[in-house]
Amino acid sequence: MTRLHALVLAGLAVLSVSCGPKEKVVKIAVAVPLTGDMGTEGQGLRRAVELAVEEANAAKRFPHRLVAEPFDDRADPKEAVNVANLIISDPRIIAVVGHYNSGCAIPAAKVYARAPVAMISPAATNPEVTAQQLSSDWSGPRMAFRVVQTDDVQGSYAAEFAFKRLGKRRVSLLHDKTPYGQGLAEQFKKVFLRLGGGIVTEDGVAVGDKDFKALLTKIKGGGSGSEGIYFGGLYTEAGLLLKQMRELGMKDPFVFISGDGAKTSGLFDVAGDAADGAYLSIVGVPVEDLPSAKTFMEAYKKRWTGAGEELKPFDHFGYEASRIVFAAMEKGATDRAKMIEELRKTDFTGVLGLTRFDEKGDTLNKIVTMTRAKAKDRTFDSLR
Ligand code: ALA
Repeated sequence: MTRLHALVLAGLAVLSVSCGPKEKVVKIAVAVPLTGDMGTEGQGLRRAVELAVEEANAAKRFPHRLVAEPFDDRADPKEAVNVANLIISDPRIIAVVGHYNSGCAIPAAKVYARAPVAMISPAATNPEVTAQQLSSDWSGPRMAFRVVQTDDVQGSYAAEFAFKRLGKRRVSLLHDKTPYGQGLAEQFKKVFLRLGGGIVTEDGVAVGDKDFKALLTKIKGGGSGSEGIYFGGLYTEAGLLLKQMRELGMKDPFVFISGDGAKTSGLFDVAGDAADGAYLSIVGVPVEDLPSAKTFMEAYKKRWTGAGEELKPFDHFGYEASRIVFAAMEKGATDRAKMIEELRKTDFTGVLGLTRFDEKGDTLNKIVTMTRAKAKDRTFDSLR
C-alpha cells in the first residue's frame, strides 16, 4: 500500500465513524478572519454560527445534519478570494455567512456569484458589498445579502452627531485606506461638509502602522484648529491612535470618533485607559439593549465559557444570518439556487427584530447607535 492509499483509507475511516455512510450533511461556510488581529472578532462569529447550527441539530429541525465549516480569510482580500474558491468547490455548502471585512466581502462576492452561492455578511458595511451586484458588468445572479446596516447610514449619522450633538466645526479625517475605513470616512466628510463643518486635515494610514506621533503632532500643532479626529478603520489602529493622542495631550474637548470596526473590547486591550471617552458608532442597537436577543445571549454564555470566548459585537448578526438560512431551508431551499431565491423573500423576525432585504440585499432595518467608551468597565455606553 502506498502512503497515499494509507492516507485515503485513514480519511475514509474517519468519515465513516464521524458521519455514518448514509448520513446527509449540509454545510454553512463561516468565512471570517480566524487569525491575526481581527481573529478575535471572526472567532466570535464562528462561535455564534456554531451555536445556531448546534441548536438546529439538537431540535432535529432538518432530516440531515447541519455543519458549520469555518474558513480563515485572515482579513486579507486575496485570502478571501482563495477561501471563496474553496467554498464554491464543495457542493455540500449551501450558503456562506461572511465575510467580516468589507475589503474581503467585495471581492469574495464576485466568486460566490460565479457558483452561484448565497453570501450573507454579518459585519461588512461598505455599500459596495451589495451595490456592486447592480452594476452592468456583474456576472451571475444577485446573491449577496447582509444583516448589518451600511456605512452611508453610519457615516452620515456620525457626522450629524459630531456637528449637532458635540458642536464640532473643524475635524481631522483619518482612515486606513481599506474599502471600509476610507468609505466610512468619506461618507462622514460628505455629510459634515454639507452641514457646514470643515475637514481641516485628511490623511490615510496603513493597517499595521504602529507610530502615529508625527501625524498626530501635525494635526495638533498645524494651526488648523482641529477639534477632533474622525477615524475610519479597525480597533488596533484606533487604539494606537488614542494612546498616542493622549500621550501628546490631545484630550477632552478634543474628540476621537470612529465606527463599528473599532468598537470592540480589543480597543481597551490596545489603548487601555486612553480609550476612555472615545465615541464609536455601531450598526444596529447594542445587543445588550435588545430584548429580542436575551435568549441568544444566555445560550451563548452557557455554550462558550472559555477564556476569550466572550460575546463579540457582531456575534448576534452571525447567529441571525444562520437562522435566516435555516428558515429558507425550511421553506424548500434545498440547493444553492433555491437558497438565493428564498433569501430574497426573507421575512424573518428574530434576535434583530424584523429582517427583510431590499433589491440590493441590504436589510431594511436602518438603525445605528452612538456609544462612548468607558475604560474603567471596558464597556461602551449607548448615547440616546
Ligand atoms: N464593518 C466593518 C467592515 O465593513 C467591519 O469592514
